[in-house]
Amino acid sequence: ILLLVLTGVLAYLLGAVPFGIVMARLFGLGDLRRIGSGNIGATNVLRTGNKPAALLTLVLDAGKGGIAVLAARALVGEDAAQLAGFAAFVGHIFPVYLGFRGGKGVATFLGTLLALAWPVGLAACGTWLVTALIARISSLSALVAAGLAPLWMLAFGYGNMATLAILLAALIFIRHAANIRRLIAGTEPKIGKG
Ligand code: G3P
Repeated sequence: ILLLVLTGVLAYLLGAVPFGIVMARLFGLGDLRRIGSGNIGATNVLRTGNKPAALLTLVLDAGKGGIAVLAARALVGEDAAQLAGFAAFVGHIFPVYLGFRGGKGVATFLGTLLALAWPVGLAACGTWLVTALIARISSLSALVAAGLAPLWMLAFGYGNMATLAILLAALIFIRHAANIRRLIAGTEPKIGKG
């Protein structure tokens, strides 16, 4: 039990690192929270027009979820891996370093899924990409990918993680409340714009 608690805390602290803010500062783009949607994710970094910074944010925010899962799995075990993925995701959306005001969790969600159940992770990334290619809206792609993730869990034989996927998807939907309002109003900007 102590080991699980320690795993959860470490994964949370890793997940809480806001790479979008770090990259925006490193690339001299200013405070990300004053740009575009004010969100700390790769989509918002892209609104500055800096593609390398956005790509790095995506990879690092996804990577921290993936690393948390893989490290926990190697050092402790499968239960710890699931806990670590959840903790890293929660860290990203409620980071202690930013007064618990964090991001929307999409990249960390995808990285966590890839490490937990790679076929599901690939399917979720594919869902995001296909939606993005059709609609060109990041938030909509995230909502479709998150909404379908529990079904991919069942379809690929990871039924034991379906509840976890539902929990993560529910948090993603809650964090996208403002995006959902804009989508309904037809005012949500396309990728790279707004
Ligand atoms: O990854 C977050 C994305 O789904 C929405 O970001 O900045 O458009 O609110 P943003």
